[in-house]
Order: sequence, then structure tokens, then C-alpha cells
Amino acid sequence: MSLELIHLHKEYASKTGDSPIVVLEDINYRVAAGQFVTFIGPSGCGKTTLLRIIAGLENVSSGRVVLRGEEITGQAGKVGLVFQEYALFPWRTTLENIEMGLEIRGTPKAERRPAALDYIRQFGLSGFEGHYPRELSGGMQQRVAIARTLVLNPRVVLMDEPFASLDSQTRNALQEFLVGIWQQRNETILFVTHNVDEAVFLSDRIVVLSQRPARIIRDFEVNLSKPRDRTSAACNDLRREILRVLGEQKVL
Ligand SMILES: Nc1ncnc2c1ncn2[C@@H]1O[C@H](COP(=O)(O)OP(=O)(O)O)[C@@H](O)[C@H]1O
Ligand SMILES: [Mg+2]
Repeated sequence: MSLELIHLHKEYASKTGDSPIVVLEDINYRVAAGQFVTFIGPSGCGKTTLLRIIAGLENVSSGRVVLRGEEITGQAGKVGLVFQEYALFPWRTTLENIEMGLEIRGTPKAERRPAALDYIRQFGLSGFEGHYPRELSGGMQQRVAIARTLVLNPRVVLMDEPFASLDSQTRNALQEFLVGIWQQRNETILFVTHNVDEAVFLSDRIVVLSQRPARIIRDFEVNLSKPRDRTSAACNDLRREILRVLGEQKVL
């Protein structure tokens, strides 16, 4: 077993002195090593908060996150993060962005350069080593962001709506790209989205969250081989069922 979420509870003090804002309510979950797990839930339900807690960027009110037997307290490098906004450093080139984490970690230049170049090749970024983020398309920027995370070999990769700001064609292409990477590397990936289509295309498990405070309301196991045909009857059936479960939640 790789990652365990144990009785996670998170609340924020209300600014007006009313009762606290409860964001997560008793989240219990176990992510097996090498699985691609997607948490899906309505906007504002607490998905980003959950990922930030798992990354150790945010404290829980109660409960524990345990990664391979060790409680997480913000250990850099063990958990990799990819966010919706590319968050690349605009003053750094593709190569320098991908090298960034290794540099912080103290990996000598003679090692980090070939490692970064290897990712550039694998990620179809050859020829763009010296380009700055503004000179890259959205899809390329997000590939740089993913490369920058994976080059660190994190134990778990957390992805918070990483494709949300891409047009639908680029988004589909990046989803296919991510499935390819996952199949090669067997990463443990915890992915967050509010897009049912994306969840069905990518995931081994799909965990449906309620409106805030987020509770787990369903856990689907998806036994369909990858890469998947988005238009297949099996994908459609699953989409319909997830939409039904989400639809039972009051939005607004
Ligand atoms: N620092 C904070 N203080 C108070 N409330 C917060 C804070 N951060 C997030 N929230 C609240 O937590 C809820 C969940 O936010 P978030 O995790 O970003 O949702 P999601 O990613 O699912 O859209 C929101 O209602 C938001 O207002
Ligand atoms: Mg969010």
C-alpha cells in the first residue's frame, strides 16, 4: 500500500466568528502503489485543499496522511505536484525550468543536465530547450510542468486540474500523453478534476466527492484497458453513472 488518508478533517475558522467552515469531513482512502486515482467533485468542494494537505502544504484539523508507513509533514521531493496554472518560472528556459527542482535538491550540474535533456526528448520538447514559457503553447508548457515534477522521481504525483485551462483538443492530447507516461512508469498518481470525461479516460479508480464539506460518496473501480476509447459503450455507461451520482448533489 502506498498512500493512506486516515480520518482527514479540515476546517477553517470563520472570519465573522460564526461556526467554522468545514471543508473535508472524515476522508478515508487508500491509494495502492502504481494506481491512477482521480478525485472528482463539484467546484469548491475541497479538492485543492485535499491535495495541499497530502502535499504537506496545509495542516489538517485532524487525521493523518501516511505515505509508505511514514506520516507526511511536508517532505519535499517525495510528493510531486502539478497544478492547473503552469507555474513555470517565466525567466527560465524549458531546460532551466526542468532542472529547477534538481538544482534545489543540490544535484550537480553534470548530472541534472543530462537528466533534464532526457525528459525533454521523451516529452517531445526537443528543439525548445532554450525557449521561455511565453514562447511555448499551453500544451507544451504543461508538458514542461509535468517533466519538471517527474524528473524528481516523486513517490506520488499529485495533479490538480492540470489540463483545465487547455482547449479541448490539446486537453485530449495531453490526457493521452499522460496515459502513455503512466503506462511506461507505473507512477502512483492522484489526480483531481471536475471533468467526468477526463476522469473516465484516465483513471483506475474514480472517487466521487460530495459538495463541501467533501465526503467520499462513491468509489468506482475502472477495469477498462488503456488507452481507452472515449466513445465506447463502457466509457459511456460509466460517465452516465458518475454524472448521476454527481447530479444527486445540490449545486448552489
Ligand atoms: N485559507 C482558507 N480560508 C478559508 N476558507 C478556505 C481557505 N482555503 C479554501 N477555503 C474554502 O474551502 C473550500 C474548498 O476550496 P478548494 O479546496 O479550493 O475547492 P476545490 O478545489 O474543490 O474547488 C472553499 O469553499 C473555499 O472557500
Ligand atoms: Mg481546486
